[in-house]
Amino acid sequence: NLEVNIANTVTKIQPTMFGLFFEDINFAADGGLYAEMIKNRSFEFEVPLMGWKQPNSSKHSLNQQSGIATTMKTLENKSNPNFCRVTVNDDKGFSIINEGFRGMGIKKEGRYNLSLKAANHNGAFKKIIIQFIDKDQKVLGETSIVPTSTDWKNYSTQLTATGTEAKAQLKITFEGTGTIDLDMISLFPEDTWKNRKNGLRKDIVQLLYDMKPGFLRFPGGCIVEGKILANRYQWKKTIGDVENRETMINRWNTEFSHKPAPDYFQSFGLGFFEYFQLSEDIGAAPLPILNCGMACQYNTGELVPMAELDPYVQDALDLIEFANGGTETAWGRLRADMGHPKPFNLKHIGVGNEQWGPDYIERYKVFEKAIKAKYPNIIIVSGAGPSPDGEFFDYGMKELKKLNAEIIDEHYYKSPEWFKENVTRYDNYDRKGPKIFAGEYAAHPKGVEDGSKENNWLAALSESAFMTGLERNADVVHLSSYAPLMAHIEAWQWAPDMIWFNNLESYGSANYYVQKLFATNKGTDLITITKNGKPLTGQNDLFASAVKDSKSKEVIMKLVNTAATAQEVNIDLKGSKLQSKGTVITLTSANLNDVNSFAEPTKISPTEHDFKLKGEKAQMSLPAYSVTVLKVKMK
Ligand code: AHR
Repeated sequence: NLEVNIANTVTKIQPTMFGLFFEDINFAADGGLYAEMIKNRSFEFEVPLMGWKQPNSSKHSLNQQSGIATTMKTLENKSNPNFCRVTVNDDKGFSIINEGFRGMGIKKEGRYNLSLKAANHNGAFKKIIIQFIDKDQKVLGETSIVPTSTDWKNYSTQLTATGTEAKAQLKITFEGTGTIDLDMISLFPEDTWKNRKNGLRKDIVQLLYDMKPGFLRFPGGCIVEGKILANRYQWKKTIGDVENRETMINRWNTEFSHKPAPDYFQSFGLGFFEYFQLSEDIGAAPLPILNCGMACQYNTGELVPMAELDPYVQDALDLIEFANGGTETAWGRLRADMGHPKPFNLKHIGVGNEQWGPDYIERYKVFEKAIKAKYPNIIIVSGAGPSPDGEFFDYGMKELKKLNAEIIDEHYYKSPEWFKENVTRYDNYDRKGPKIFAGEYAAHPKGVEDGSKENNWLAALSESAFMTGLERNADVVHLSSYAPLMAHIEAWQWAPDMIWFNNLESYGSANYYVQKLFATNKGTDLITITKNGKPLTGQNDLFASAVKDSKSKEVIMKLVNTAATAQEVNIDLKGSKLQSKGTVITLTSANLNDVNSFAEPTKISPTEHDFKLKGEKAQMSLPAYSVTVLKVKMK
């Protein structure tokens, strides 16, 4: 018999208990969530014509070429210096083709907004024809632009797709002979999340929204740090006009790639304003993490001298003003100019990602002093370094504790067994010490670096067992998030990941459904669920936690059975009168190797049934390998 004590609140559950960790890894931003379909739209990649082809030009034979596209670099524009110069010699239909991010996903009848800048020197070109084509050159939608100006001018038009194709390309053909300059060739589906220009992929945001996440951490982990400081994430370069956001190589360009991705760059079209806006849209508290004057310690570990740390600290202070400042402040004004006069209500800020050792502590202290002096109510998230074993982690925890750090970010990518065995991890944490952000975690069935992308049921089930431990310790654990969040099926560097997508579709893994179950049933107050007075932490392969929700007036129990057989449980619900009808949600799969996929996107997903209570008792059979959420209304 299990016992649930409804009357006694152990602690409040933080609204941030279960949230999201976003990083531009695995083509999560450019080529993923950010709906731009043109790769290298402003010709700023290291190889400036990467992503672009010119099928009817021959760079080697002046006589035969019908035209040539090349890139020019101007000193006048520091953030976007390159543009494309097209010279056409004859009327044979010279064209340039953009390959998209492993193709472009277009849907029949879908409308796509194209914009570009052009300078039509001498007015030589009467028309620019723009077409979707498939691999056999079949046209799947067409429009045109008349480039009326000899100076730089913005043009826009719309294409309607005549077919559905995951790997379309965009062909641009020039009618006329002469020279024309082009820049910022951009293409978005009309149907973005909230129909925003420069918008986000609707299907992916919907998956995030449906989770009701408590927070959104951005812009990531290692991407914050950069391999070298020059490649760190600098939020100020990611706001304002998209055209002026400086493109930069993505630090996941080669690392851990199942296939190297030399074409992985950051356009920053999805920048800090958009991250704040996304947080607001999905009801999540924004949680930005900033570079603390240290590059990735797994790489160069380059450091900013202490005497030169000021600009980094200033970035943090200015970010708080950008998010929360009134429109009379410089950064608040900029936010308003970008379309959001109201503050974003930022409450947390992260200082450094996975940093460790005395170098970190020394820098953290400077940030803390400056932030608290100006913004005493902002909660600072600090890092404890690499995964939770070993001397660096212990050192970080000890020092941060001495400094009364508010929240420490812990990361662990471990085996499924580790997750089950560590369900009591936070039971013995100091209740008066820093709070915990379990900021990046995922069960890796075959180890982190073996290239396995399996989000199998074994991994997800083990995470759910562990999450009962997070919830049972909600007085210590204030935030938690699975990582990484998403991956392009043809361009990933790290796996497993919570959401998988191609250019047309996306689906949640089994791990996604576990996260969603916990996040959408987090309740407001922790209560106890015990057997013989003890929490269920794996005895007979059973794990459990319970909460009540003061708003919906529900008692919510989460029961995880990791055994290969079903188990009967009798639950005594004490301390409140209850309605006899409840709901039971079950997430299970008979085979631990099962996965969701594009072919079967909801193979592992919750099913919901009515449940009948017998007096104040719930009798139920927990299926083998299952997560069960039982919800009962209080009278
Ligand atoms: O989530 C992938 C990476 O894992 C993150 O960038 C980093 O913080 C951690 O090492």
